[in-house]
Order: sequence, then structure tokens, then C-alpha cells
Amino acid sequence: MTNSIQPSSTRSRYDRDGWFRSPEVLGPDALARLTGRVEALAERDGPEVVYEKGSRVVRGIHGCHLFDDTCRRLVRLPALLGMAEQLLGEQAYVYQFKVNMKQPGEGAAWPWHQDFAFWSREDGMPADRAINIAVLLDEVHAGNGPLRVIPGSHRFGLFDSGAAGDAGEGDWHKHVSADLAHTVPDEVADKLAAESGTELVTGPAGTLYAFHPSIVHSSSNNLSADRRALLLVTYNAVSNAPLRLTRPEFLVGRDTSALTAVGSNSL
Ligand code: SIN
Ligand code: MN
Repeated sequence: MTNSIQPSSTRSRYDRDGWFRSPEVLGPDALARLTGRVEALAERDGPEVVYEKGSRVVRGIHGCHLFDDTCRRLVRLPALLGMAEQLLGEQAYVYQFKVNMKQPGEGAAWPWHQDFAFWSREDGMPADRAINIAVLLDEVHAGNGPLRVIPGSHRFGLFDSGAAGDAGEGDWHKHVSADLAHTVPDEVADKLAAESGTELVTGPAGTLYAFHPSIVHSSSNNLSADRRALLLVTYNAVSNAPLRLTRPEFLVGRDTSALTAVGSNSL
């Protein structure tokens, strides 16, 4: 596994809270290169680019590591892959890669949900032994639709009442749109939030976070004048590959072999 700066106390904190802000950041050169690539990829004409409801405003771009060299390298940077391996305690591969753009005044909210509900019910992922690494491509503040997490909420299993394939065979749009297929009822999230509080995933561009597949999270509309592009790499433990492969490869990685880190965090 990749050597990393994470001591074991970091792992126990992550296990307790289900989220973690990395002391490492992506440098300005890497960030500029990545942001440039993402803006270019948003122009692609394929199903991996998803739009806000009823418009041509780009909501998300999926699977970029499959077709873009900068993104292919990004998932192998020690700051991302090393953190994922340390917190998972196992070698990992890329299960999912997405950039959610949240354009100024346009980016729609994501209701309370748990990512593992999608991966378990739609793909048959055996356990929540995956991890999201978030890269803030823009400065994220309280006003431009940051992720909001409920610390510790990953420890109670899944809260939705859905069953496998609830969104309907092939209807993966309900996994990436504002009308999410698997949500956590508001009253459940309100109760958890009243007990544990909530935290915002904010910071300057380049900030890195990790969060757990089962943590309850949401994000609000972006009513501000600032874009909130958030890049999310989901690493899955190599021992935890899903059983059902019905969704497209840009949503569920097919190459389950362990990744090897590159030598530096430059792009
Ligand atoms: C968001 O981009 O605001 C939400 C992303 C997610 O929940 O995966
Ligand atoms: Mn999510």
C-alpha cells in the first residue's frame, strides 16, 4: 500500500465520525490543470455528462478517469489514493468518479441520502468498504451549496426503505439527478442531526476530504454567484467488488485490480 501521512488516530477518528479533512491540499498547478480539463470535459456529447433538470446546464460529469489522462493520474496521487488506502486499510480501485458542477444560481440541491444505498441496492456492493475522496475544485463556502454531513451517521446501517433496482432497470438517471432514487426520510435526518449536529464540507479550492459511503449527507441549492465544482473519487476495497454489473462503466468501475500510486502529487 502507498505510504501515507495518516497515523492510526486519524483512522479511528474517521471510523468514529465518518468524515475527515485531509491536512494535504492539491497545489495551484495541479488544481489549474484539473479545472481546465474538467471544463473541457463538460463539453463532451455523451451520456456521462448529465444536465440539470430541463436545461443544458451541466450538473455532473462521470467516469472521467476512463477517458482523460489528467483524471487517470489524479486517482493515483498519493494524497488521494494513499488516504483512501489508509482509511480503508486495504488496497483499492476506482469504483466511481464524478464532478458535480453546481453552477452559480443553477446547481440544484441533493436531498439527504447515503451513497451506499445506491451501491448496495443497484450494484450489489457487498459491504460499505469503500470511501469517497472529495476534491474541492472551487472555494466552497456556506452559500454555494456545500455538502452537509451528519457526523457518526454512518454507523447505523441504511435508513432508506428501498429495494434492489428500485429506480427501474436502466434508469440510472435517478442516481445522478436531483430526484434521487434512494433517500433518507427528512424526519430521520432531522432526528440524527438533532442528536449529532451537522458539518459543512467547505474550504479553499484544493482542499481534500474523505467521507464514508454510509454517512447521511445532502447539499443545498447554489443560489450564489460562485460555482461549486466538487470532484468525487470513490475507491472500493479490492475485496469488495460488486456482484451485479448492470449500470454503465462510467458509474461503476469494471477494472477491480488494485491501483498503484504515482510518485508525487503533481498532475
Ligand atoms: C453534491 O455534489 O452536492 C452531492 C454529491 C453527492 O452526494 O454525492
Ligand atoms: Mn452522495
